[in-house]
Amino acid sequence: MWLFEQEGFDNALRISHVIVGIMWMGLLWFFNFVQVPAFAEMEAAARNNALDKLTWRALWWFRWAAMATVVFGLLIIAVFPDLYDGDYWGSTAGVTLLLGIIMGLVMAANVWMVIWPNQQIVIANARNVQAGGEANPDAAAAGRRALMASRQNMIFSLPLLVFMVGASHFYNVTHFEQFDLSAGMWLVYFLIGVAIIAVLELNALGRISGTGNGGLNVIYETHKNAMYTGFVLIAAFYVLAEIVLRA
Ligand code: HEM
Repeated sequence: MWLFEQEGFDNALRISHVIVGIMWMGLLWFFNFVQVPAFAEMEAAARNNALDKLTWRALWWFRWAAMATVVFGLLIIAVFPDLYDGDYWGSTAGVTLLLGIIMGLVMAANVWMVIWPNQQIVIANARNVQAGGEANPDAAAAGRRALMASRQNMIFSLPLLVFMVGASHFYNVTHFEQFDLSAGMWLVYFLIGVAIIAVLELNALGRISGTGNGGLNVIYETHKNAMYTGFVLIAAFYVLAEIVLRA
């Protein structure tokens, strides 16, 4: 049966990867475009109830979808070593996919190591206040840390999708004739990409301009700013590819 052959299994993994990836990105965009603006307009009691009943559930699907996306993504590579060999990673599709994977891994780390722990503080506080307890003075700062990481993931999600889909559809042999890509050009593209990802991530963690407003943090101030930043990144990576990767 085709499904149990290498190629069939690879396709099943790709479909699984895309399904859980859509669930992850869908919830990420729901949090950014819908939940955060709605919470800003809701009364405290209603917001606390929503955090308790709605956000809590959404975060379960969100973090496990993130985990599953990473696992299926890595399995696609693991079951097809003859496709993802040294030549592949040295190609245009290889270097762009690699940057997409680095973004995806940083995003998954943001989910599990920043957003989830901080949201647990926010939700515990909401439940405590609902039960008549004292508000936790650290909850607002925890919410801000989670928000910045979430908006950073929103920013990464746009170029990440271009890298993922591009690997088979446009950063490939037909369009970029990439198999004679020089090691120097590969390195330039890769290092610029990693530098952009690192600066943005450090900024989102508050290591560059703190977790407050101002400075580079303007990109996290509204979900629209985060979205525009994501589209600017798509354009920047495309122009960089035209300059550096075009044979
Ligand atoms: C986090 C680590 C991730 C890894 C290791 C990973 C790995 C991969 C790999 C190896 C491919 C196949 C590329 C090819 O040769 O065509 C792929 C494709 C794809 N990935 Fe990811 N990915 C990750 C994250 C994501 C995320 C967050 C999404 C969001 C939805 C995503 C969506 C896709 C899509 C839509 C494709 C295209 C499928 C295809 O055309 O075959 N990936 N990914």
